[in-house]
Amino acid sequence: MPVQDADLVVVSNRGPLTIDADEEGEDRYQRGGGGLVSGMQTALSESPGAVWVCAAMRERERSIARGASGRRLSSVPPAAEALHGDFDVVMLPIDAPTYRAAYNGIANATLWFVLHMLFDSPRRPVFDARWRRQWAAYQRYNLAFAETVTQIAADNGTVMVQDYHLFLLPALIRRQRPDLRIGFFTHTPWVGPDYFSALPADVCRELLEGVSGADVVGFHTRRWADDFEACCESLLGARSRARVEVFGLRTDARELNARAHRRDVESALRDLNVAVGDRLVVGRVDRAELSKNVLRGLLAFRELLVRYSEWQGRVVHIVFDNPSREDLVEYRDYTRDVQELAENINDELGTEDWTPVLLSIEHDYPAALATLRRSDVLLVNPIRDGMNLVIFEGIVLSERSAVAVVSENAGAAEVLGSDALLVNPFDVSQTADALHRALSMPVDERAARTVGLRAAATQLPPTAWFAAQLEVVRDSDSVSG
Ligand code: F6P
Repeated sequence: MPVQDADLVVVSNRGPLTIDADEEGEDRYQRGGGGLVSGMQTALSESPGAVWVCAAMRERERSIARGASGRRLSSVPPAAEALHGDFDVVMLPIDAPTYRAAYNGIANATLWFVLHMLFDSPRRPVFDARWRRQWAAYQRYNLAFAETVTQIAADNGTVMVQDYHLFLLPALIRRQRPDLRIGFFTHTPWVGPDYFSALPADVCRELLEGVSGADVVGFHTRRWADDFEACCESLLGARSRARVEVFGLRTDARELNARAHRRDVESALRDLNVAVGDRLVVGRVDRAELSKNVLRGLLAFRELLVRYSEWQGRVVHIVFDNPSREDLVEYRDYTRDVQELAENINDELGTEDWTPVLLSIEHDYPAALATLRRSDVLLVNPIRDGMNLVIFEGIVLSERSAVAVVSENAGAAEVLGSDALLVNPFDVSQTADALHRALSMPVDERAARTVGLRAAATQLPPTAWFAAQLEVVRDSDSVSG
């Protein structure tokens, strides 16, 4: 029986550790990836005694989680060694079919698509009997989290729930443990009621009421907070009972710089310099993710080379894509299309000594950091993005005062404002013009913009971001019911 002793519980689907097998079949413990995990990991480094509850995402994790005493990974020596920070981790071994239906079917293929407006509406979404079975799995998945959290949280403790996998959790926790203070933060965008209401009416209600079970609901920007409130007013007929606040996560320059100057990154940078020589670099680093809009980024780069042909031979586009969500056919197809387009551009415009697009689809953190250090222009053109932390990382790490070309639908656009060159992510010609302007920008204008960009990129680093939320959540008047 777990001990009810955690004053602070953080809850998310993905946790700070991934466990799989290496080539020899030995267990390999690695840091979990993505913006949420890295931000939270830094934030929790100053919260001794906290417990992070996450899902076991693969079979090996499920079996290790089942064997851990009190489900706590600190009882498993190699896991304890791999964890950075003074917090403990509880991994939930939810059965595989339920987990797959909840994570792939609902969180990734439905909620992520709604929140990022990714549906191909003549064909998808389809809410049918199969989808309803996945929805039931999502409900069970949220219930499993509720059961564990309510068993380990101390009296009057604080629970900080993260993201769209767990939209139902705040209300479930509140029902069982009205003594707890509950914060909910969503790292994604939100959408207005017209698009959100594509979901079945009962599902809209359950999701909005689930999130509203929190005392405080946090977003990266005002735009997403307003969209959420508009959904509550229009689809629930009332304002959310929760307090809705904005906490825009930024990056920790000191920690990032320390990581980006380790030996493995220096070596990756040397390799990169051999590959690109003294050419200018338009760089980007993303998850291989539909919403990141890499295809239109490549089209814009091609149009730049054709319409502003003086750049041919003088600039290289480095596209760094970390493989992601490969269980979903949409992601596999999209990655294939990215590969094909990059090859077409290279065949069409490349020469014997110049390859216009250097595409990597792999997990190679040192090489990704080296790309950011070497970039003259950073391209971040998502269709929609909660914030986009990579642009902040690129701004901090670029050794060439990189110009930031940023989608107006990324939360980061609200933060960076006119120091960045903002583009409509669907307007490929406008993006090509912005790349031309960025590549041609005089040194003093670059330097002046960099001052503003760096200040904005580092204004609320993870530790301060989390502390600000905790303060508001702990100060909130708990409203029960
Ligand atoms: O944007 C929300 C987010 O949680 C990011 O923080 C993270 O990079 C991504 O989604 C993780 O997705 P997944 O856990 O499915 O790889």
